[in-house]
Amino acid sequence: NEDQFKKVVSHAKEYGYIFASSEIYDGLSAVYDYAQNGVELKKNIREYWWRSMVYMHQNIVGIDSAILMHPTTWKASGHVDAFNDPLIDNKDSKKRYRADVLIEDYAEKLNQKAQKEIEKAKKRFGDSFNEEEFVTTNPRVVRYVTEQRTVLERMARSLENEDLADIKALIEELGIADPDTGSKNWTEVRQFNLMFGTKLGASAESAMDLYLRPETAQGIFVNFLNVQKSGRMKIPFGIAQIGKAFRNEIVARQFIFRMREFEQMEMQFFVRPGEELKYYEYWKETRLKWHLSLGMGEENYRFHDHEKMAHYANAATDIEFDFPFGFKELEGIHSRTDFDLKAHEKFSGKKLQFFDHELNESYVPYVVETSIGLDRMFLAVLSNSLQDETLEDGSVRTVLKLPAILAPIKAAVLPLIKRNGLPEIAHKIIEDLQWDYNVTYDEKDAVGRRYRRQDAVGTPFCITVDHQTIEDNTVTIRYRDSMEQERIKIEDISEKMKETISY
Ligand code: GAP
Repeated sequence: NEDQFKKVVSHAKEYGYIFASSEIYDGLSAVYDYAQNGVELKKNIREYWWRSMVYMHQNIVGIDSAILMHPTTWKASGHVDAFNDPLIDNKDSKKRYRADVLIEDYAEKLNQKAQKEIEKAKKRFGDSFNEEEFVTTNPRVVRYVTEQRTVLERMARSLENEDLADIKALIEELGIADPDTGSKNWTEVRQFNLMFGTKLGASAESAMDLYLRPETAQGIFVNFLNVQKSGRMKIPFGIAQIGKAFRNEIVARQFIFRMREFEQMEMQFFVRPGEELKYYEYWKETRLKWHLSLGMGEENYRFHDHEKMAHYANAATDIEFDFPFGFKELEGIHSRTDFDLKAHEKFSGKKLQFFDHELNESYVPYVVETSIGLDRMFLAVLSNSLQDETLEDGSVRTVLKLPAILAPIKAAVLPLIKRNGLPEIAHKIIEDLQWDYNVTYDEKDAVGRRYRRQDAVGTPFCITVDHQTIEDNTVTIRYRDSMEQERIKIEDISEKMKETISY
């Protein structure tokens, strides 16, 4: 819900996870900076993905291709001609909107109205309520649901046919108003390309128009043959990449869910034509397992299989996650056929084929793609982990229950007091642990407050050095989630942490 989302955003700032970009100049819309803890969480997610994709699959290798690419790349990929959003302006407010989002919001309101009727009826009829029957027979609900479907279908059809006039007509027929001012005075709908342009070269005459890449995938496609040859790769094999992508998004009001500069973790798996659906199923299952391995709750994920697909795909699904604003796309898995490689063959004039010794023939491989936004994954982890817990004494503790393997700081070492040699012992413990873990030292305030501070940052372990430590070389280790404490030997700390934090 909205409150939880607001909490996540302010917590991210207060505890050094995410700041608005160039905040002293009032920020830059939909651009964000990762702060001292954010950068660690992001790095750990990246590492978790890279290990599972590249190290755990002997037939997948990684690359890091440049953000700037030859401009013909984007002609071939279809981005120059078709990577557009339909925009509409309100003549009175001078505000700009995505026409499809205005219509989707309208449809969502119909959905909410139907849900309200269902909730009301549930209360009224109690145990005897039959939801299935109610939604197909109650005239109001039927009307809302039917209208919602009709509106969305008509929009999808118009978008596919690039019938911008009909999208405008639909907005007018539905009486959709500017959400801020209520004005219904709209301009025509026009296509807006999402790619950021830039220039290469010093003089105006010789400068070449370039784009900042809107996805990392094309850097993989154009390197397909280089990697295959230099790595002596045999089909099926994959190429993985993590890197920045840029999109001039118009609807940009969901924190790091939709950004103008973001990071993608993509993998293209090259297979024999005809075997793509088998691998599509394999990657669907494998990617869901990866998500579930983090322990953020099975109920928070679902597949959304696409019925309508881009012209180059023959199967597509999203892994959706239950964000504070509802289930939304987190990752896409697409069977992209030979569309991309064929297009690059056509535009470059170079063959991008694999000679299959078993079949004794050359072919353009088919591709199954997995693509996840790193920032979006970050938001999923952060929003899922942030909890307010009411303790036995009635007080509330704010705790970030991050999967331990992803936590920015793995342990905080805390001398009970600042005297009697305790800080020195704490520093010595840090010197040993820092080879394996990112650990921190804190001696300020009462130890209880220090625990709470680490809870809010998401640190899984607190190690407290007290007077008994001087006598018997033991410390207390406190666990973030259970708040339980245990006395262990200094030399066992690292092993103890490893039980929870290891790949
Ligand atoms: N190569 C395929 C591709 O780029 P996409 O569905 O456009 O497909 C893949 O993007 C993933 O990238 C999405 O599932 C999402 O997680 C992430 N993503 C896309 N646009 C984004 C944006 N503006 N901000 C943050 N993440 C984004």
